[in-house]
Amino acid sequence: MNSAQVRQSFLDFFAAKGHAIVPSAPLLPSSPNLLFTNAGMNPFVPYFLGDRDAPWPRAADTQKCIRAGGKHNDLDDVGLDTYHQTFFEMLGNWSFGDYFKEEAIRWAWELLTGVWGFPKDRLYVTVYKPGPGDPSEFDQDAYDIWERIFRKEGMDPAQRILNGNKKDNFWMMGDTGPCGPCSEIHIDLTPKGDTNGSLVNKDSPFCIEIWNLVFIQFNAEEDGSFKPLRNRHVDTGMGFERVAGIIGTTNGFTDFSQPPSNYNCDLFQPIFAKISSLCHHTYGATLPADPRNPSDEERRDIAFRVLADHIRTLSCSIADGILPGNEGRNYVLRRILRRAVLFGRKLELPAGFFAQLVDPVLQTLGPVFPELKEQQTVIRKVIASEESAFDRTIDRGIQLLERIFEEKPAAISGAQAFELYDTYGFPLDLTEIIAAERGLKVDTEGFNREMEAQRQRARSAQHKTVIRVSDADNAPVSATEFIGYEEKDLSNLEVELVDIVSGEKEDYAILKRSPFYAEMGGQVGDRGTLETDGLKVAVLDTRKNEQGQFLHVVAKDSLQALKGKTLSASVDLPYRRAIQRHHSATHILHWALREVLGNHVRQAGSLVDPSRLRFDFSHFEAIPPKDLQRIEQMVNQRILENAPVQWNEIPFDEKPDDVVAFFGEKYGNRVRVVDIGGYSKELCGGTHVRATGEIGLLKINSESAIAAGVRRIEAFSGEAALTLIEDRFQTIRTLSSRLSARPEELTTRFTEWESRLQSLEAELKSIKAASTSAMAKDSREQSIAWNGLEVLVLEVQDTPAKELKPLTAKIYNQLENGLLLIGSASEGKASLIAMASPKAVEAGYKAGDIIRETCAELDGKGGGKPDFAMGGGSATSKLSKVLENWKSKFKI
Ligand code: SER
Repeated sequence: MNSAQVRQSFLDFFAAKGHAIVPSAPLLPSSPNLLFTNAGMNPFVPYFLGDRDAPWPRAADTQKCIRAGGKHNDLDDVGLDTYHQTFFEMLGNWSFGDYFKEEAIRWAWELLTGVWGFPKDRLYVTVYKPGPGDPSEFDQDAYDIWERIFRKEGMDPAQRILNGNKKDNFWMMGDTGPCGPCSEIHIDLTPKGDTNGSLVNKDSPFCIEIWNLVFIQFNAEEDGSFKPLRNRHVDTGMGFERVAGIIGTTNGFTDFSQPPSNYNCDLFQPIFAKISSLCHHTYGATLPADPRNPSDEERRDIAFRVLADHIRTLSCSIADGILPGNEGRNYVLRRILRRAVLFGRKLELPAGFFAQLVDPVLQTLGPVFPELKEQQTVIRKVIASEESAFDRTIDRGIQLLERIFEEKPAAISGAQAFELYDTYGFPLDLTEIIAAERGLKVDTEGFNREMEAQRQRARSAQHKTVIRVSDADNAPVSATEFIGYEEKDLSNLEVELVDIVSGEKEDYAILKRSPFYAEMGGQVGDRGTLETDGLKVAVLDTRKNEQGQFLHVVAKDSLQALKGKTLSASVDLPYRRAIQRHHSATHILHWALREVLGNHVRQAGSLVDPSRLRFDFSHFEAIPPKDLQRIEQMVNQRILENAPVQWNEIPFDEKPDDVVAFFGEKYGNRVRVVDIGGYSKELCGGTHVRATGEIGLLKINSESAIAAGVRRIEAFSGEAALTLIEDRFQTIRTLSSRLSARPEELTTRFTEWESRLQSLEAELKSIKAASTSAMAKDSREQSIAWNGLEVLVLEVQDTPAKELKPLTAKIYNQLENGLLLIGSASEGKASLIAMASPKAVEAGYKAGDIIRETCAELDGKGGGKPDFAMGGGSATSKLSKVLENWKSKFKI
């Protein structure tokens, strides 16, 4: 059986047992606590918890998983052994409140031994036995079921069934979430298969877990307790590559002489072949005897495994819209890619090799996960650009480290490591690796101190003014409640002034509840007025402090008169509306970008103010003009539809699947969903128009790069867009009148002008050439015959130095045994060139000397070789005289 057949036969087996076959969920998890989908059960959590009804009572699938970063983190083991991977497929069968332990266990045994032919006497199973303080109780049910099976097979249950503790036999997705006791199936892969279960759960490559049957019964709560679930479920997970690797290594269970390895299955072979075609090495399947000190061959085989694993991880996550970046899961990916590039250097692979490994991934996984094929261009481009950026970083960092090494330091200081990291993007772990090769340590504590100091600097830079609590130093602070989403609440709203804070140059009013939006999430703060008894104070801006209080910025000392009074607050409506237009337009733009460019696009920053919007997003290349135009058109179509914009607050867990929210970011328990026309749904706390028509229109002004993989669009909507358009129209009107052409004729007229200009330039060039030749000819007539030399001294009109040079050469070529001095005053400067034939030099006339002498008289300088020299001076008025004087030497 090849691996594709293993996968298919698993799915067929469970389809025959009434399971719906469902596609893999994306690697971007639907749970906020996870970096990546890390187990087959992740997408089904709401069904286990009873939050949603499962569409099928039982299902089976192959789920893409990544275990890197977070609770289940296998990154650092990958490559060193033969069974850890960051990316893998998990084959699973699922019961949602339907069958339980009996069927799950029986079917697992039937598939492994009956269908696939796993040797029964090499299999061992574990059941849960809690230690003191552990949840639940001994899993007697599972034990009994296994006991019956082994007895029926004529095998001794006592030898086959082992107990496992909470660590090994109580499965948890994370610190919280659905969980339960599990029963695992392990296989003895030693040549003789005679270890009697002694290697189970001992981290031996010769005895590995192949299938985990989890009996989901509890939810792990935040307080550490385990709450029983309403229904009991089955979650099984089989390591697909492990099984395929065992079948591959043992040649269908016929030969156990070779050490087992996931990497022996046909999923990895095409990747190894591609690597080999790019370097001089082949994969030898060796394992390091001492992982900290591998031999050369072992080191190369580790690199082969690392690359084969990591390229699958990168390809599959990019296909699912997760790109390498600076934070969270994106940073984990960046680290994986960098790890791959570094291991690639050990194999002396050429620059850009990693992107070339995408092809064999498409070949092996493309038929199973169609998104890989759909996104292949994006995958290749993202990997190539990340890879070359990292190559540049390494080269620069290594150069800098070499300079540090030259000074023979005792260690790399924290400050040096931090500068490499902060200024040059050179990762700390890499500095450590390279320093270790020189026997040097890196002061990581010093590095951390520098990092913290920088964070502090960043924090204090954010506070432009010193803010002190004046009136209520000891009063408890409570956050301001924002009550300004609806337009009806924006004018003449009664508010309570609870505190006045004074800053250096301005004061801040703190209200209990406020209709003013405080700057957040890219949306700038509101302006407006606070008013009482005819006294009106202008609110110039609204910000938020760390306690969540809104600081309404007012002129210094303007609040005293309002103290203790009930105030009427009014938000500057035109200002707010202009901001809202840009905010809602940003959401629609985000939607259109994802539609046109792909779902890897995600917001990386935004600014929304009354005059424009700026939207930063992850994307790996410039957007071609036609795509940008399409994006703008799509947004404008949506604006014209005038669809309603709705918002509501819901518990985070209840947000619909299609809401754009990027987990790993911090969202509170309750989130606000902004829904535009049903096609754009984002978690957002900002304020918005009520219907898209209010936006008026959107005009994209520019698209540019702001960092590797991050693009920025600047655009205008509403009045700002109209002003921009009016500006452009004005320019067109001016051009129309200057060129005497109607706007629609401008392009043709411009083309005419352009070609006229080109032909005039060509004409001018030929006239100049002709006049130079004529001048060269004419000037010869002025030469003086002097002792066998032909001497010529010439002043030409208004010719700058760069034009003078070719002219001089032309004239000189007409002379026989020539000695030429030529000068011109142009643009406030006199330029001189001298050329002397060998005979002239022999007679004592060296061009360099002539120029030095004459230029000095022009208050300038110059020089050169005996045969050619040039120079100049500022005394243009003396030029004629200087030339005349020099010429007089040759008067007979
Ligand atoms: N949830 C279990 C695991 O990931 C079985 O699917 O191992």
